[in-house]
Amino acid sequence: MMRTMALALVAAGFGLTAAAQESAPPPPPPQAASNEAPSLVTGVCVQCHGATGASADPALYPHLSGQVSDYIVKQLRDFKAGVRNDPVMTSMAYTVATDEDARAVANWYAGQTVTPSAATQPDLIERGKKLWRAGDAAKGIPACSGCHGASGQGLPAQYPRLSGQLPSYLAQQLQRFRNGERANDPEGMMRAIAERLTDNDVKSVSEYASGLR
Ligand code: HEC
Ligand code: HEC
Repeated sequence: MMRTMALALVAAGFGLTAAAQESAPPPPPPQAASNEAPSLVTGVCVQCHGATGASADPALYPHLSGQVSDYIVKQLRDFKAGVRNDPVMTSMAYTVATDEDARAVANWYAGQTVTPSAATQPDLIERGKKLWRAGDAAKGIPACSGCHGASGQGLPAQYPRLSGQLPSYLAQQLQRFRNGERANDPEGMMRAIAERLTDNDVKSVSEYASGLR
């Protein structure tokens, strides 16, 4: 029943019929038996986030490889609770039925190697680097590195990895924190920071954080 629902949801997301989906399951990744991806990963998440968390289209879907495990579990819970919303991901979160499922998927992705990204817009990097390392005291912006780690790798349990993610995804999340559309950050800590960032700050720091390694 859950499985049928999961397939139907995925099919709906892709505009395919459930039948077409069932007749062409994605091939399992070439893993040793002792190190197999959970079936939710190979059956559902793979379509957008890839089997190893290298997103199928990073312009649309975030990478999950090397993401902090507890952070992934929390996001799945938040999408289901409606405190984080996305037209595509919210329905996908419902395919993760139990806490054990969430933990298995999160541990799998957390253990995968990150595909590094590179900053491509040199004109934005100086401002991005300043915000990342020192913040902007005059505007009340703390250094991003204080919570997300010097190289953007994230800090267990609550601070997500930002390095390796595409700048457009990071910028979109900052905008969603800034306008309050995303409101699942503990004590509003990201909203308080994002609302002090200008559009240029958002672009600069997203570009810089993405390229960190
Ligand atoms: C049809 C595409 C699609 C599928 C399938 C999908 N996701 Fe997502 N996922 C998204 C999108 C789009 C976002 C970005 C949402 C946003 O912008 O807030 C996302 C975001 C996430 C995030 C938040 C990442 C972050 O950095 O905050 C997690 C965690 C996640 N997905 C886990 C999963 C898991 C686990 C599965 C499988 C059960 C899954 N997703 C299946 C599209 C998908
Ligand atoms: C006081 C700690 C703190 C500081 C400083 C901080 N962040 Fe965050 N940030 C968080 C937390 C906590 C979350 C995760 C919220 C949640 O649970 O969804 C987060 C989430 C994010 C996300 C969403 C990541 C994703 O995968 O969806 C982005 C982007 C981000 N922060 C960027 C920044 C930038 C840029 C700065 C510096 C200008 C910064 N943060 C400074 C605590 C912080």
